[in-house]
Amino acid sequence: MYKRILIATDGSDKSKKAAEEGMELAKALGAQVIALNVINEVVIASAVRQLGSDRKEVEDKLKVAGGKAVDDIKAMGAKMGVNVDAIVRIGAPANTVIDVSGAEKADLIVMGSHGESGATKLLIGSVVQKVLYWATIPVLVVR
Ligand SMILES: Nc1ncnc2c1ncn2[C@@H]1O[C@H](COP(=O)(O)OP(=O)(O)OP(=O)(O)O)[C@@H](O)[C@H]1O
Ligand SMILES: [Mg+2]
Repeated sequence: MYKRILIATDGSDKSKKAAEEGMELAKALGAQVIALNVINEVVIASAVRQLGSDRKEVEDKLKVAGGKAVDDIKAMGAKMGVNVDAIVRIGAPANTVIDVSGAEKADLIVMGSHGESGATKLLIGSVVQKVLYWATIPVLVVR
């Protein structure tokens, strides 16, 4: 069964719920977890362009937030006895989830049905939608 589970988190409550499910599954299967947060490059670019913010400053702030999201999963792993590698990347969220899942040889991706935008009118969010479209491995979407 699954041996390398990639858990994608944007730090939202919805993705925390998905992370908990992914961690329980990893524990039951004795799987390695890769916790990934992607800092959206578009968010950085618009802060620089529209607000005139310093790129490095924006990146550093977002890296702290992203680091916290993956560290939460790492802390969960320490309590549960699950090995967790934490990764924070800058890029396009869905593309980066796919790229990292390939590079890390993940055999399952776990994500929330929704995330930080909280637009729950849609069946699923746009990031998870694109991952489902592009992925060639199973994706567990947690509602
Ligand atoms: N930047 C990100 N890095 C890692 N995982 C992410 C990121 N953004 C979203 N995800 C994953 O995708 C799931 C669904 O979030 P998604 O962004 O698709 O929905 P949303 O935020 O509600 O809507 P949208 O972003 O389309 O406005 C999250 O629970 C999380 O697992
Ligand atoms: Mg989102």
